[in-house]
Amino acid sequence: MIYSQIVGTGRYLPERIMTNADLEKIVDTTDEWIRTRTGIEQRHVAEDDQKTSDLCVEAAKVAMEEAGVTVEDIDLIVVGTTSPDLIFPNIATIIQHKMGIPACAAFSIEAACTGFVYALSTADKFIRAGDTKCALVIGAEIITKLIDWGDRSTCVLFGDGAGAVILKPSEEQGIVSTHLGADGQYKDLLYYPVGVSNNLAAAGVGDSRIIMSGNDVFKVAVKTLSSVAKEALDANNLSLDDVDWIIPHQANLRILQAMAKRLKVSMDKVIQTVQIHGNTSAASVPMALDVGIRDGRIKRGQTLLLVAFGGGFTWGSVLLRY
Ligand code: UT7
Repeated sequence: MIYSQIVGTGRYLPERIMTNADLEKIVDTTDEWIRTRTGIEQRHVAEDDQKTSDLCVEAAKVAMEEAGVTVEDIDLIVVGTTSPDLIFPNIATIIQHKMGIPACAAFSIEAACTGFVYALSTADKFIRAGDTKCALVIGAEIITKLIDWGDRSTCVLFGDGAGAVILKPSEEQGIVSTHLGADGQYKDLLYYPVGVSNNLAAAGVGDSRIIMSGNDVFKVAVKTLSSVAKEALDANNLSLDDVDWIIPHQANLRILQAMAKRLKVSMDKVIQTVQIHGNTSAASVPMALDVGIRDGRIKRGQTLLLVAFGGGFTWGSVLLRY
C-alpha cells in the first residue's frame, strides 16, 4: 500500500503588516470591533508589484529545503488559489518556470478557501496511483487585491500569504483519508461578481468587491467545519481523542470556537493563526500547519485533521499521520 507523506512544509507572508489601528485610519471601524467579532489583530498585505506566484515560490523554497528535495525531484505541482497571477497560463506553470522545475504536470484548483485541501487531496491521489514521486502542493492568495478598502464589512477580514508542502510516497501511513464536497446553491452568500465570461469588460480597477452575507456564512461555516471533521473521523472509526491537532481554515476566531464547542473539543487542540494572519483563504490551512510544525507543537507520528470551508460552498478534510 502506498501512502502520501508530508516531508516538508513552508510558508511565506508579505513583509507589510496592516494592524487594526492602521485600518481605523482608512475605514469606519475600531480595533475593538475587529478583535471581538473576528479575533483578528493584524494581517499581511502584498505590495502592488508582488504576485501570488512570488509568495508561492518563497513558501515552496522553504518546504523543499526542509524536505531535502531539489527542483529536479518535483514531478507534480498543484496550487489551490482564487487569486492567480493571470487568467492563463495557470499559476502552477508560472511557479514552475520561476523555480526552474523541469517539465511535469502543473495545474491550479479553484475552490475558494478550501483550495489547499482540494489540492492536497488531488495530489494524494496522484501519489497513491503511483504516477507521482514528489509533489509540490501550495495554497496561496493575494486576496487583498480583490478588496474594496472602503467596505468595512469585508476589508478588515482578509490577508495575503502562501503555504506549501512536499508530498512523497511512503509505505508508512501518511494521508489516511480525504473527503471533499460542494453545494453550489449557496453561491450568492459569498462571491466575487467578476469573471472571464461575466462582467469582465465592464469592470474597472476597484469597481468590484467581495459580496458576503457574513451572518449566514458564519452559521454554515460552523456547521460544515464540524460535520466535515466528524465525517473524516467516522470513516476511519476514530474519535477526537485520537486526533492530536485540528487545523481548520482560519476565517474568524468565533467560528473556530463555535466549531470546537460543537465538536466538544478544547481550543488547545485547534491550531489558531487567524489572529495574526487574518483570513488568507486557500493559504490559511497550509500556513497554520507550518506554524504548528515550526513552533514544535506538531510532532512526527501525530494525527492531524485538516478541515476547510469556503465560497461555493466548498468544503473538505484531510486526516493524516504526520
Ligand atoms: O472564509 C470563509 C468565508 N468567510 C467567513 O467565514 C466569514 C463569516 N462571517 C463572519 O466572520 C462574521 O459574520 C463577520 C465578521 C463578517 C461579521 O460579524 P457579525 O458579528 O456577523 O457582524 P454583523 O455582520 O452582524 O454586523 C454587526 C454590526 C453591523 O452594524 P448594525 O447594523 O448592527 O448597526 C455592521 O454594520 O457591525 C457593523 N460592522 C462593523 N462595525 C465596525 C460591520 N463591519 C464592521 C467593522 N467595524 N469592520
